[in-house]
Amino acid sequence: MSKIIGRCIGETSLVEVSFISKEMPQVGEYVSLKYDNKNVLGMIESLVRGSVSINDEIFDPKTIEKIKEIEGDDHYIRGSVRILGDISDNLRIPRTPAPPGTEIIPASQDDLQKIFQKENSLSLGTLISQENVEVKVDLEKMFSRHMAILAMTGAGKSNTVAIVVDGMLQYNGCVVIFDMHSEYNINFNNGKSKVISPEINPLYMSFSEIKRLARISESAFIQERYFFEAYKIAMAEMRNGDTQNKGFIRNMKEVLEAWDSGKKEFRGQNVEGATQIVDVINKIGDLERRYNSIINTNAGNILSKLELGKANIIDLGSVDESAAEVIVSHILRNALQNNKKWLKMGNDGGDLPLAHPVFFVLEEAHILAPNNRSTKSKLWISRIAREGRKFGLGLCLVSQSPKSIDPDSLSQANNMIILRLVEPKDQRHVQSASESLSEDLVKQLPSLNVGEAVVLGLMTKIPALVKIHEHKNKEFGQDLAVIEMWKKTTEDTKKKYEDEKEDIMNLGGDY
Ligand SMILES: Nc1ncnc2c1ncn2[C@@H]1O[C@H](COP(=O)(O)OP(=O)(O)OP(=O)(O)O)[C@@H](O)[C@H]1O
Ligand SMILES: [Mg+2]
Repeated sequence: MSKIIGRCIGETSLVEVSFISKEMPQVGEYVSLKYDNKNVLGMIESLVRGSVSINDEIFDPKTIEKIKEIEGDDHYIRGSVRILGDISDNLRIPRTPAPPGTEIIPASQDDLQKIFQKENSLSLGTLISQENVEVKVDLEKMFSRHMAILAMTGAGKSNTVAIVVDGMLQYNGCVVIFDMHSEYNINFNNGKSKVISPEINPLYMSFSEIKRLARISESAFIQERYFFEAYKIAMAEMRNGDTQNKGFIRNMKEVLEAWDSGKKEFRGQNVEGATQIVDVINKIGDLERRYNSIINTNAGNILSKLELGKANIIDLGSVDESAAEVIVSHILRNALQNNKKWLKMGNDGGDLPLAHPVFFVLEEAHILAPNNRSTKSKLWISRIAREGRKFGLGLCLVSQSPKSIDPDSLSQANNMIILRLVEPKDQRHVQSASESLSEDLVKQLPSLNVGEAVVLGLMTKIPALVKIHEHKNKEFGQDLAVIEMWKKTTEDTKKKYEDEKEDIMNLGGDY
């Protein structure tokens, strides 16, 4: 006979019941309600503790002391349980609510283990309330219905990414991490990481991607005309193999300089000295200086560098935000176009660079798909969020500022791992993107410890409060030992000074 946690009180509904108890259970704990031949599973979502006699009508602390002397610590515990479904009926929501007075008992470990054991799954961690129950989630659903990993800084997002990536590598999957802080070059347990430097051949770049890198604004029509014509000429020459050694950008610049000096005509017109041409030349000069390492006419299609069974890491640590946006949009756009062809033509697709599904992890998703401005990457992130499922492309958005993520893309993430999240605006934004995040669960988010998460969505049959496994191969994002660093620098400087002093003395000098 299981111990009784409490009993239902008041009006019960099909989705929620309130209960009263004498002992303190844990939020996130699974419970079972047995009635009408059903075994209904629920999760404790909120708890309060109160006292009938020590209520908020008392204004004198001495009165409280007296009541305590008489009654001791006679508290009641009231809580709410969210109904998750009938265990004996494949977790379907029961058709009748629990009668008031129904016993609430802990869910059996056996039942929970059965619910969290799945085929083709990925182990995320263990239940916070029952450490011996391992939480496995459905990998196919995680992939095809996309995912978001959200939390305030330092709460354990990167560690969670590492656990997810390792889980995918276990199935020889292909994962691409857009690594904004160069932190993922680690050994995964189930596969190696491959760091790919973000070099793009302009041959595979769209005009708007190059225009974005050159910072030609949307409203600068005349600049755009010159830039577009020069781009076309340089592209044609590159296709003929004329610019290999000179470089694509240099070639564009030379075309513009010939118009500026009057040596050549622009569309049959002499445009010598036109200020907009000079502006474009300056912008291209700037582009050349900033992005020479990214644009490489000798680079192959970046997609062909992606390998199965590896964590392919696109290292964006040393590029600025505009370049990161362009690189992400470039890779996502090409992957979508590639996979559409691959799935349409099957093996007849010829020599496509990719012929398998890919899971993309986007760190700093609020920069790549921001809420309040349009970026190249946002366009392709939202397209993959909407269509990727049909073409074997999965997305994982990672962010410490969920309120700043494009709501369209976020709402397509049908799976969520939410670690500690304190800011109310962030909480509201996440709640509006996810129907399964209840008000009571939102209230739990600020009290989670590092590495603890609410796991929701299609990848799990029931929502769970999970202690995510700690990834063993690297400790992510450790805070710097600042005081130790200052101390060391002071000691080093002092030693250098002492050494110099000694050298001078040895040379017979006077200090
Ligand atoms: N599940 C966990 N178990 C134990 N320790 C953890 C866990 N997750 C994270 N940590 C620890 O917490 C620290 C921060 O983790 P992590 O770098 O993953 O956070 P983050 O949310 O990615 O931070 P940032 O916003 O700075 O990128 C690390 O030192 C890591 O070792
Ligand atoms: Mg991180």
